[in-house]
Amino acid sequence: MTAKNYEAWDVLESDYPAKGPLEERLKFLLRYAILAPSGPNTQPWKFAINEGSVSVFADLSRALPFVDPSNRTLYMSVGCAVANLAVAGAHFGFAPRVSYFPDGEESDLVAEVQLLPGGNKMDLQMDLFHQMQRRHTTKDHYENATIEPNILKEMEQSINLPGLCLSFIEDKDSRAKMTDLVSRAHQTQLAKKEFRHNLGDWLRSNWTAEPDGMPLYTFGVPDAVSLGFPAAFKEFDLSRAVIYRDAGLIRDCSTLAVLSTDRDDKPTWTASGFALENLLLRATFYDVRASFFSQPIGLPDLREELLELVNRGHPQLLFSLGRAKPMRPSPRRPLEDVIITPS
Ligand SMILES: Cc1cc2nc3c(=O)[nH]c(=O)nc-3n(C[C@H](O)[C@H](O)[C@H](O)COP(=O)(O)O)c2cc1C
Repeated sequence: MTAKNYEAWDVLESDYPAKGPLEERLKFLLRYAILAPSGPNTQPWKFAINEGSVSVFADLSRALPFVDPSNRTLYMSVGCAVANLAVAGAHFGFAPRVSYFPDGEESDLVAEVQLLPGGNKMDLQMDLFHQMQRRHTTKDHYENATIEPNILKEMEQSINLPGLCLSFIEDKDSRAKMTDLVSRAHQTQLAKKEFRHNLGDWLRSNWTAEPDGMPLYTFGVPDAVSLGFPAAFKEFDLSRAVIYRDAGLIRDCSTLAVLSTDRDDKPTWTASGFALENLLLRATFYDVRASFFSQPIGLPDLREELLELVNRGHPQLLFSLGRAKPMRPSPRRPLEDVIITPS
């Protein structure tokens, strides 16, 4: 039997209430939205179902003030959930239209997703829908670095929204420079107790019953060690172990990629999360997995150094792509916890 905190992954396409009221159908789409990735699996989103649209809110009570002080990663994560909602909507015959921050950037309303009938399944170029339940982040190691050039090209082209750009970093020297940037970021951040506590609060043992956070099996930490690991992580600077793991993920990947944007504000962060999740689903279609390295982007000096390498806009995410074994998923919050019901 699936444990409660993993039940979200068992959503069945055949349970879609095709003949049910619109509200029920939109609610069903949200079962896919909540499978999206999010920085330390905080799932910082809330949804309200309206007549023919879904409002997507940022849940700032789930922010990480020392790890992600600008909430950049938080808004990117909400963008990932919006992408899943749009993919699910298109699959079930809607024509999703997303508008970001319709009430202005100071509002918690991040996106209004109109879901009107009239979508044509035949227009969908690729089956991204069935990848939502297959996608996961790789945090342990890659098995194989081979990704065919045409697949990489397709991913590059999929980031085709205005103001967004994907750069691949293939040469050896730049890859070494990235390892160095990620290592220095870990050294600086993990030396700080507030940072360790803030991030450590989202680490979970392998037997977690919590609906959020990162179970340590995803990082390859053995069961017995996982029990004491979150406390040890908060107390001690474990940067050497973390650097060792990330160096392997960079060394053994097929390619490194930097997602950059022309602007650096909340709507852009959200739109880049939307594009990222589309790319990740496309990658999953080809059994390609991704690892993320947010650390250098969280430190202004290192972000500047990263910019010198890609020479384009504002870097938003450094990640690697490669082939890895499928991994047990991470927990998700139940849908009821993230739906705002009218009072
Ligand atoms: C915007 C964004 C940034 C992320 N940054 C990191 C990161 O720096 N390091 C990392 O290990 N995972 C990172 N992740 C991956 C999350 O930890 C992961 O999505 C979450 O734990 C849920 O797991 P899943 O993706 O396997 O469903 C990031 C995810 C998102 C959406």
